[in-house]
Amino acid sequence: MSLSNIQQSASQHLPFGDQRGARFYGTDILSVNQFSKEDLAYIFGVAVEMREMVARVGTFDLLKGKILANLFYEPSTRTSSSFTAAMERLGGSVIPIHEVKYSSVSKGETLPDTIRTLECYADVIVLRHPEKGASAIAAKYSKKPILNAGDGVGEHPTQALLDLLTILEELGNVENLTVTMVGDLKYGRTVHSLSQLLSLYNVKLHYVSPDILRMPPEIIEELNQKGISQTEHSTLEQALPETDVLYVTRVQKERFDNPEDYEKVAGAFIIDPEIMKAAKKKMIVMHPLPRVGEISMDFDDDSRAAYFRQMEYGLFVRMALLALVLGKA
Ligand code: CP
Repeated sequence: MSLSNIQQSASQHLPFGDQRGARFYGTDILSVNQFSKEDLAYIFGVAVEMREMVARVGTFDLLKGKILANLFYEPSTRTSSSFTAAMERLGGSVIPIHEVKYSSVSKGETLPDTIRTLECYADVIVLRHPEKGASAIAAKYSKKPILNAGDGVGEHPTQALLDLLTILEELGNVENLTVTMVGDLKYGRTVHSLSQLLSLYNVKLHYVSPDILRMPPEIIEELNQKGISQTEHSTLEQALPETDVLYVTRVQKERFDNPEDYEKVAGAFIIDPEIMKAAKKKMIVMHPLPRVGEISMDFDDDSRAAYFRQMEYGLFVRMALLALVLGKA
């Protein structure tokens, strides 16, 4: 599906007043597996509209009177602040709980009780939590929509949506692309979600990682069942020349039980201008960020470096999701 198709579909069914968005009303966003291609086209259509509205008027009152609880048990810069910006650009307001140690969680309050509390005050809850499956548990206890902003080593579905929109915007298409994922594929929730989302399309995937950080076998198996071509590598050499999207990830120190294991693999892959001489002229380098050295700052001015533009797409996708789950798109 090309971007122009998506934009065409967006202009055909402008979000404001269109009924097709109604199916998202009150929906939890927990996993990329809940989306069809049609859902993605609709969400991206709304996101494109949001971008135009932000460019034209900055802030508008679509969600005036609505409140978002932004509940983060793990650190975040992009996800947390883009959800806050999204809600405020839509005229709504935010209860920020970025440091749960200053909330009643530090007194031993359980996740279900914290969720039950916040749903009394908010219309939608964004949750980042260190445990896989935490968002699904929260959704069981909440009558208000839960948006998974990262559940441990599980998923990061809103990141995968903005990643896919980035690919469409930057390359104009997703069909027949070769996507190479590099770094921490074992613990990286962004690559878990993105690989599954990409499996809706005809793509070829390369996985480049240290042996102890390989893509989980259950994800490889799931994508095999869908007929997706996947190849694992221990170096970048083979995959890089045919890569259209190089998706680089940070080795996540915080996920290692043994710091020595981290030291062995930190810095295993570093993307710099020299290495990128082997890559296509028309391709993009993405990273969910933060980075800790795996992409050299010397590469930042290369037109293929899409990672800062990628962050901006997150605002529009999250505006679209908030409007959709609150029944206002
Ligand atoms: N990409 C991402 O999830 O970044 P943060 O951890 O800063 O939210």
